[in-house]
Amino acid sequence: MKPEGSAMRHAAIIGWGDYTPPAVLSNDDLASVIDTTDEWITTRSGIKERRISHVSNSDMATAAARKALAAADLECADMDLIIVATCSPDRAVPSVAAYVQRELGGLGATMDLNAACSGFLYGLSVANGMIAAGTVDKALIIGAERLSSFLDLQDRSTAVLFGDGAGAVVVEATDGPEGVLSSNLHSDGALTEILTIRGAGTEGIFDEEIPTTVDMEGREVFRNAVTRMGEGSVVAIENAGLDVDDIDVLISHQANIRIIDATARRLNLDPDNVYTNIHAYGNTSAASIPIALSEALDQGAIKPGDIVAFAAFGGGLTWGAAVVRWGDRVERLGTADSGLPGTDKTGLELLADRVQGLGLA
Ligand code: ACO
Repeated sequence: MKPEGSAMRHAAIIGWGDYTPPAVLSNDDLASVIDTTDEWITTRSGIKERRISHVSNSDMATAAARKALAAADLECADMDLIIVATCSPDRAVPSVAAYVQRELGGLGATMDLNAACSGFLYGLSVANGMIAAGTVDKALIIGAERLSSFLDLQDRSTAVLFGDGAGAVVVEATDGPEGVLSSNLHSDGALTEILTIRGAGTEGIFDEEIPTTVDMEGREVFRNAVTRMGEGSVVAIENAGLDVDDIDVLISHQANIRIIDATARRLNLDPDNVYTNIHAYGNTSAASIPIALSEALDQGAIKPGDIVAFAAFGGGLTWGAAVVRWGDRVERLGTADSGLPGTDKTGLELLADRVQGLGLA
């Protein structure tokens, strides 16, 4: 437990950035190839469109990192640690974090972390712990996902939910009042099967071919998400020595607007204090919180000294929450281009081979 204004060494967020691929896949685009409607997707999830990446996961992670480093006016070589939270890495080895370092430089530690959609908060907590232990001074924490690679276009109940993107933060050690005031992480391994992506690991690799599918018991995930994100947030707020009334902005994992609204209601939070962008990107898993944070800052939704609560849940079933007191600076010190090529293709065009392969168009 870390009370308000504690002088203990901890992490403060000093840079932020995101990369959202330019190719848009709208609900109507999806409805042109699978049996769904804009109305169903919007009312059940709040999603209007999502992005489909024309580049790799590590390209997106690197682009978001470039922007976060520029915002902090630091180089990647200054980072003692790079964590990429992802469940859709380019390869099993090396990590996406190592690719980011290959592009941006440095000799700090690199690792990927898979806690599904809770991954960014797991990464923030790990970096905060290493900073508290004194082994790290500065760290880059990235959430990056290319979930479109796993989309099973024959399963309308999951194909409409996910999108691609990356977000990043730079954290630095401080003993000041700003930064991570508390965090908690949890998992219930008994619930592994209610949300799982099959066919993308080594399972069955020598004796059976497992098609790539996202298997989800939507209602069970929904029920657990609301309960667990609410519980985790209450504990994080209490451990920060604060009340729910002190929360200026809630940024939760963007999986479903109804889950976000229900969590906010449980916490008795005014909807004006809840930042959402799920309508534009769908569920980008571990990338959703850092993308939302970056956009919230750029839109002026976070003010100097604000108390920002984060909450997430994901496959595992994992969940976690964190409370951060923002520092004095809500402006970027510098800006950077993504460094990536653009594309003229639409989201549907990028998926065309798979759509045709399945005989959907
Ligand atoms: N278009 C039209 N109809 C659909 C679609 C679709 N895309 N998908 C399902 N349906 C139909 C179903 O077939 C069902 O029809 P039936 O009643 O004739 O059988 C009906 O709609 C209702 O389906 P439900 O699954 O009961 O719908 P529900 O209201 O539960 O909403 C949803 C589904 C949006 C998936 C919801 O349960 C949810 O959001 N759950 C949480 C999911 C989530 O957050 N997942 C992300 C996890 S993050 C991670 O770690 C990757």
